[in-house]
Amino acid sequence: MCGIVGYIGDQEAYPILIKGLHRLEYRGYDSAGISLINAQGTLSVYKAKGKVSALEKSVEGKDVSGTIGIAHTRWATHGEPNATNAHPHFSQSKNLSLVHNGIIENYKALRTELEKNGMTFCSETDTEVLVQLVEYMMNTHRCDLYTAVQLALKNVIGAYAIAILEKSHPDQLVCARKGSPLIIGVGTTSSGRKEFYLGSDATPIIEYTNQVIYLNDEEIAIMDRTGRLDITNLSNVKQTPQLVTLQMNLDQLEKGGYPHFMLKEIWEQPNALRTCIRGRLNVVDKDVLLSGIIDHKDKFINCRRIIICACGTSWHSALIGKYFIEEACQIPVEVEYASEFRYRNPVIRPDDVVIAVSQSGETADTLAAIQLAKEHGAFLYGICNVIGSSIARATHTGTYLHVGPEIGVASTKAFTGQVITLCLLGLAIAKEKKSIPEDLFHLLVDELQKIPDKMQWTLENNKDIDKFAQMFTYCKNFIYLGRGYNYPVALEGALKLKEISYIHAEGYPAAEMKHGPIALIDEEMPVVVIAPKRGMYEKVVSNIQEIKSRKGKIISVVTEGDEVVKNMSDYSFVIPDTRDCFVPLLAVIPLQLLSYYVAISKGRNVDQPRNLAKSVTVE
Ligand code: M6R
Repeated sequence: MCGIVGYIGDQEAYPILIKGLHRLEYRGYDSAGISLINAQGTLSVYKAKGKVSALEKSVEGKDVSGTIGIAHTRWATHGEPNATNAHPHFSQSKNLSLVHNGIIENYKALRTELEKNGMTFCSETDTEVLVQLVEYMMNTHRCDLYTAVQLALKNVIGAYAIAILEKSHPDQLVCARKGSPLIIGVGTTSSGRKEFYLGSDATPIIEYTNQVIYLNDEEIAIMDRTGRLDITNLSNVKQTPQLVTLQMNLDQLEKGGYPHFMLKEIWEQPNALRTCIRGRLNVVDKDVLLSGIIDHKDKFINCRRIIICACGTSWHSALIGKYFIEEACQIPVEVEYASEFRYRNPVIRPDDVVIAVSQSGETADTLAAIQLAKEHGAFLYGICNVIGSSIARATHTGTYLHVGPEIGVASTKAFTGQVITLCLLGLAIAKEKKSIPEDLFHLLVDELQKIPDKMQWTLENNKDIDKFAQMFTYCKNFIYLGRGYNYPVALEGALKLKEISYIHAEGYPAAEMKHGPIALIDEEMPVVVIAPKRGMYEKVVSNIQEIKSRKGKIISVVTEGDEVVKNMSDYSFVIPDTRDCFVPLLAVIPLQLLSYYVAISKGRNVDQPRNLAKSVTVE
């Protein structure tokens, strides 16, 4: 949801900012802009509707020199995506330019007040209100930019990560955050002084330095060319910055020969999951080691229930986690949409454990849900992919996925990473609670270890999905069915298809069909059924019969060697046999590939589907 980049140092800022915007484009791509101060002290702002490439085109032949600058790629909230509403925004006098990620909830009231004081606005955005408010504070309090930002932010309700340039002080960059992420990268110039980078995440920074500071909520930072970095909170209390070394490499941010990040990330899954379980799953000693559980085992042994809060794909993995944890640990688990949970006055007790599942670790609703749970005294556990993210820092403890950066907007490897992490978590708790027999625990550990190889097999043995997918280019609807552990897989398969191909798709528990959705079935309707030869196999076979007799087209996911369902289907994807609880980790792979290739055959931009953004930092 909007990406911010910034730079101050000895280098030309423009190439750093543009490259950074390309890396952050997954966060929003409806418009982009850049602001620079050149050697003559001119503060310029360039903006364009569309992708970063459109911005690059629009500045051709213009002066983009300068060693200080800020830039932004937008996912529109207030005001349609056009060049006027794109960031950066100028203040009235054009002395300031500002970029913003987040939402200023009281922007209307602030705007009315500022208009009464003679300020005029060019855009429909909440962001322009911020920059005008800062300028208003500078003028009325006759203070410097830093103080004005402090004063302005005290009047603001909402979420923000901001970066500001000031024409009359071209040697300093000011930034602040609350609720939206902002990272400061600290590098060294050729002359040995410190230079500073800004990013909504680490991806625009890692190329230049691995030394970063995660700005905390309500902190304001000022950086200048002498290498000074000062951080205070809104009340002007000095904060001590914590320098963290990033564990990330540049290859993880490139497509590595694949046409899209999504396809790369699908194929990365076996290795990503090997990394995820490394050091946590020990087949020799038949053990599961999760420090978050070992260090807080009493919280899990004694908890009354577990509540898992998540959104989108993460909600689907949470549902699989619920099935597994309830079965293995005998603890009641509730799975909540974070956006509903945070506003519905839920019962939360101090003996509840609340788990937040989030790839980005920045999803505004999930963050708010755990903040609510914290207020009620619950123990908070984070399952995130992005290291140092807001949710990871707001929880008491947790487990990182370690599946590497996920750039494609449609989540793939993070989903399987979340599922396997929730299985590890369930096993770790079960071990502490002794809630499953030892021989079963050993079997599950052994089988979980084999999953990455079985994923590889699944990828290698379903290579013709690309040709098959073309048959569905003009389909208007899809239904996905699964039972038990595979019901959330049906939901996930449908979401994948919807978000990147824009074909309407619904996931249902297979047995629910006869309670209504079966009325939709005719010869035009492709029905994807997850039908492994495991528990409930016979029942799913009956469900397939019901659809076939209404002429629905059956696309099935079957266990290798199962000729029965294969023969009943118009097309089948094969997966190796595994235990019921681990089938989702394999069954989702052909569904990810199906959605990818259908979207490709429709000519969609799979990595940046319309209206979406990778990290949903607004509610
Ligand atoms: O970063 P999070 O896991 O919290 O994100 C949650 C959803 O926004 C995300 O899973 C979304 O549904 C994806 N686009 C699905 O592919």
